[in-house]
Amino acid sequence: MEKVPTRLNVAPVPPDEIFALNGAFFADTHPQKVSLGVGVYRTDDGKPWPLPAVEKAEKQLAEENDLMRHEYTAIEGDVPFLKIARDIMFGFEGKPSEEAAKARIASVQTVAGTGANHLGALFLAHHMKPRNVWLSNPSWANHMTIWELAGVPRKTYPYYHAATRSFDFDGMMATLENDAEEGDAVLLHACAHNPTGLDPNKEQWIAIADLCERKKLFPFFDSAYQGFASGSLEEDAWAVRYFFENKPDMEMCVAQSFSKNMGLYGQRTGAFHYITNRSATSIRDVIVNNLCHLIRGEFSMGPRIGCTIVKKIMSSEELTADWHNDLQVMSSRIKSMREALYNELVRLKTPGTWEHIVEQNGMFSYTGLTPKQVYALKDKYHVYLLKSGRASISGLSQKNVPYVAQAIDDVVRNVL
Ligand code: LMR
Repeated sequence: MEKVPTRLNVAPVPPDEIFALNGAFFADTHPQKVSLGVGVYRTDDGKPWPLPAVEKAEKQLAEENDLMRHEYTAIEGDVPFLKIARDIMFGFEGKPSEEAAKARIASVQTVAGTGANHLGALFLAHHMKPRNVWLSNPSWANHMTIWELAGVPRKTYPYYHAATRSFDFDGMMATLENDAEEGDAVLLHACAHNPTGLDPNKEQWIAIADLCERKKLFPFFDSAYQGFASGSLEEDAWAVRYFFENKPDMEMCVAQSFSKNMGLYGQRTGAFHYITNRSATSIRDVIVNNLCHLIRGEFSMGPRIGCTIVKKIMSSEELTADWHNDLQVMSSRIKSMREALYNELVRLKTPGTWEHIVEQNGMFSYTGLTPKQVYALKDKYHVYLLKSGRASISGLSQKNVPYVAQAIDDVVRNVL
């Protein structure tokens, strides 16, 4: 290799699989190409879908022509937005102990969900120093990167039972019970687990909360799909709200994203919420203040526009109702595409069982296809999915499902 004079000590790092695949998809000129890679919502025509509620909000905002719209906000971010984001996540409506509950939550604006995960990891690394963070195996690959960069040793708990293509609840519980230590952080996907699409049921969530409490583990929720998975904000926040309401002596945190549920992917809109236990609410402001210290040293404050859109929608009954409707549209289309793919594979008598495609939840299906089959799908059919077999269901449409099913049928039969 050519010797280059440099002060740097750099070796190549593997490209991010999700975005590298997305780049390859865009560069592909094949007319029948299908993107089942990156987790983004697409219409049945394969087009991006700025949410109608968001478009209405943008129109109103353009008319208002607010002179402040490009100004700095506070380091903690857009404060009215943070209150709205908190209320969407924790859902206080009409609960008698609302004020006491809110007093437990320290919120700051982040650079979407990734930024919230990163800020949270960094904050814990500085101020809690967990010996380990426990990630599900598998998890969103970026979780690994984020905690690596925060300098917290990463361990994994079993999550996926390959033989039955189901959630390995017993494996998860046994590992956390036997191997996790007091003060360790446990990364939990609030709903629509990425990549498996398998979530604990309510009874299992209760058992996970009990375990975290008994073993003094720190639950770190990643909530990237609230409302997007089931169509209901409440249903998709069930686990977070259960922990929050029923374990008031436990501390926890939530990384919240508006990328998927408002379709604000590139606007980087999100929040990080640290929840104190009920006896430590007096330190809430100190927590915000320390989070602000990290934010200021890194990006000064989160971007404005996405928060302004969220505020506009949530301050109008009409736009809020539109948004709820948009969530239904997105989640139902994904469910119907799961069924369409399943039906087509059954019709083709594709070897194997495919019920898991309809049983899994949210943006992704963990198809069970092998890496070789995944590569063959790309090379022969221009159908793009992750090496793990994760498919972003929203890339399917009425038009391309027969093609994709036929392609899967071929690789399942012919590529071992
Ligand atoms: C995904 O998992 O495809 C999405 O969450 C996009 C991302 O940031 O990785």
